Amino acid sequence: MTQTLLLLPGDGIGPEVTAVARRVAGRLISQGLDLSITEARFGGVAIDADGVPLTDETLAAAKAADAVRMGAVGGPQWAGQPYDKRPEAGLLALRSGMNVYANLRPAICFAALADASTLKRIHVEGLDILFVRELTGGVYFGEPRGIETLANGEKRGVNTHVYTTSEIERVARTAFELARGRKGEVVSAEKSNVMEAGLLWRQVVEALRDAEYPDITLTHMLADNMAMQLVKNPKQFDVILTDNLFGDMLSDEAAMLTGSLGMLPSAAIGAAGMPGLYEPIHGSAPDIAGRGVANPCASILSLAMALRHSLGEPELAARVEAAVEAALNAGARTADLGGNLTTAQMGDAILAQLT
Ligand code: NAI
Ligand code: MG
Repeated sequence: MTQTLLLLPGDGIGPEVTAVARRVAGRLISQGLDLSITEARFGGVAIDADGVPLTDETLAAAKAADAVRMGAVGGPQWAGQPYDKRPEAGLLALRSGMNVYANLRPAICFAALADASTLKRIHVEGLDILFVRELTGGVYFGEPRGIETLANGEKRGVNTHVYTTSEIERVARTAFELARGRKGEVVSAEKSNVMEAGLLWRQVVEALRDAEYPDITLTHMLADNMAMQLVKNPKQFDVILTDNLFGDMLSDEAAMLTGSLGMLPSAAIGAAGMPGLYEPIHGSAPDIAGRGVANPCASILSLAMALRHSLGEPELAARVEAAVEAALNAGARTADLGGNLTTAQMGDAILAQLT
C-alpha cells in the first residue's frame, strides 16, 4: 500500500534543506519505494498566509500521514509576537497534537568529520550518543504560562515546569527499550537537587528500571554536570534520557561534537502505529537563509529516520545514511563543515552515492 509523507518545509533554511530531502525521497521512489509526498504550509509562512502557524487542516493532514518531515520554523519577523502568533507555538502544537512524546536525537560523529568537531579527534571518533528527550511536557507546555501585570505595575513572566508520573514513565520506557538494542546503559539527566519535577523524574525512572528493566544500567546525573561531562568525555555516554528543556540544550551542545548543528537529525515518536515527526534539530538559521549554503545532511538523515521508524524501510534508511557518509568521506563539505559546496551541490554529492 502506498505510504504518505507530509513535508512541512517551514521558514528560513527549512525549505532549502527540505528540498534536498525531497530529491532524495524522489530518487528512492524512482527506485521502487511506494511513497506519496505532499506538502503543507507551516510556521511563519502559515501565519502570513493563514493567520496561524498550524491550521486545523495541516494538523489533520499530519495525523493522517504515515510520517511528517518538518524543516524548521521561526524568524526575526515573527519573534516577540504574542505566543499564538509565533511560529514556534505551531511547532509545539504540532508535537503535542501528534502526541509524539519521545524525541530521538542521535549524535553520531562520522569519522570524516572528527576534525570538524570542537573537540579533538580522540574525544569524538566513534561517538554515538542517542538522546531520548521528552517532547510534549515540561516547562515548554506547563500551565500557567504568560506575561502578567502585577498590582504595582511590574510585569511577571511565568512558565511552569511540570511532569506527571505517566509522562515520565512512557519516555523512560522508550529509552530503556532502545538501550536494550545498544549497550544497555542509560544516563538520566535532571536537577532533582533543586526542582520538584526533577525529583519526581528521578524517582519514576528509577522505579521503572527496578520493576521492568533490571538488565539496564541506570545512572542519574545532574543536568549541569552532564553539560560539562559532554565536553570533557562524551564517549562515556550511550543513551541519554532527558526532559524537554535539558534535552533541547544538551543535544545542541552534543551537535558540535559531531562537527556541526547541521548534522543532527531527529525523530519524534509516540504510541506504536502513530505517525512520527522527523526534523533536523537546527532552526531556521535566519543568518544564512536565502543564500543556499545550509548543510542539508541533518535534513536527509531525518528522512532516513522516517524510513526506519515510521515507513518500515530500515534498509533504505541505512542506504541513505551510508550515502551521506560516503559523500563526506569523498570530501563533500558545506561551509559549516569548512567546505564551499552549496546546499544543492551537497545534495548532488549525496545523491551521487545513492545508486
Ligand atoms: P539555528 O539552529 O537556526 O541556528 C544556530 C546557528 O547554527 C546559526 O549560526 C546557523 O546559521 C547555524 N546553522 C543551523 N543550521 C544550519 C545548517 N543546516 N547548516 C549550516 N549552519 C546551520 O538557531 P537560532 O538562530 O537560535 O534560531 C533561529 C530561529 O529558529 C528561531 O526563530 C528559533 O526559534 C527557531 N528554531 C526552530 C527550531 C525548529 O523549527 N525545530 C529549532 C531551533 C530553533
Ligand atoms: Mg533546540
